[in-house]
Amino acid sequence: MSNLSRKGFITRAVHAGERIQPDGYTPVVTPIHPTVGFLYESMDDLDAVFATTRAGYVYPRYGSPTVAAFEIAIAELERGEAAHAFGSGMAAIYAALLAAGMRAGTTVIAALDLYGATMTLLQRLMTELGVTVRLVDVTDLNALETTLAQTRPIALIAETISNPLLKVADISALAEMAHRHGGQLLIDNTFASPYLCNPLALGADFVIHSATKYISGHGDVMAGVVVTSTENRRKLYELNKLVGGVLGPFEAWLALRGVKTLPLRMRQQCASAARVAEWLTQHPRIARVNYPGLPTHPQHELTQRLFGGRGFGGMLSFEIANAERTQVFRFMEALELCSPATTLGDIYSLVLHPATSSHRSLTTEERARIGIRDGLVRLSVGIEDVADIIGDLEHALAQTQS
Ligand SMILES: Cc1ncc(COP(=O)(O)O)c(C=O)c1O
Repeated sequence: MSNLSRKGFITRAVHAGERIQPDGYTPVVTPIHPTVGFLYESMDDLDAVFATTRAGYVYPRYGSPTVAAFEIAIAELERGEAAHAFGSGMAAIYAALLAAGMRAGTTVIAALDLYGATMTLLQRLMTELGVTVRLVDVTDLNALETTLAQTRPIALIAETISNPLLKVADISALAEMAHRHGGQLLIDNTFASPYLCNPLALGADFVIHSATKYISGHGDVMAGVVVTSTENRRKLYELNKLVGGVLGPFEAWLALRGVKTLPLRMRQQCASAARVAEWLTQHPRIARVNYPGLPTHPQHELTQRLFGGRGFGGMLSFEIANAERTQVFRFMEALELCSPATTLGDIYSLVLHPATSSHRSLTTEERARIGIRDGLVRLSVGIEDVADIIGDLEHALAQTQS
């Protein structure tokens, strides 16, 4: 503003120090841009930005610089054309399904053991709105082929590594089958992260992340992101302009910072999870361990191929032999290092009881059909010393000896 020094005290307090253009320097770290307004030299420039014929920002529900930096980073790591960020993983899943064409009268095929909220979104809300949802065990390719042929769905949605049973999807086969029957493939890559797997390179049309998890990695931000083609990204953009599930600049900045250490964290977490899984298989009180790194896991070889030998992930689940819900609760309370928290993918080791948390909204019958019993515990292995994680599990199991 010209001649600010001649203005009144309040005007100077409001405007002084604002809108100073960088003068020949570039900050090393992406700045946080909390502004909800953007100024241009002329109204014609602003008009062109509105028309998307000129690059720029007009209002953060349409896009903003810190969020864009995060989107560029994730698109790069997922080897996709473009990414769109959201305020949470669920907002990202919902938007991706709509961008894929989900409407009343269409059919969506969903993996049987999707994350509980994704399942509830599809089976309750979307079903109420007229979408037909069919559940399939996507590791049974024959059953999937039959359902695809019968229903010709608009979309097939699955997780790279399923939650909480750690089944691994053959993404290339799913993409080929979905496309042959006229549908698009949506892959929730949250558990694997782009460090282990790039589903777009295997034929998926949309990759979704709850960036709240491994991508951010420190348990302090909620975010979601979809990576897809430029054309599909345009649909996500038009949609989110209306429904507004945007990511804020502070969250985008934290998520972008998390991205920088993703490979280091994942490397450590994969190595530690493999050690913990191996140890659990030897423990007399553990009836079953679900971890794709174990040679006994049904998709062990597929996972090796899919993840290119970089590891098998930091997530595992196990069943305490003959344990009722109350015994599992006592076990979780006896843990001192591993915290019972409803999230995953953090630097901290975290445990969760799927039957009463992520899959709580399902009926007992729905849980039983998927194979989630009361004795099942999910463990997200953190970056702590692996000996301490194992020691904690050992101590808590001994405390809850029946
Ligand atoms: C596999 C998976 N997808 C999606 C979500 C939803 O993400 P958010 O909690 O960020 O909305 C979660 C949350 O736990 C998840 O585990």
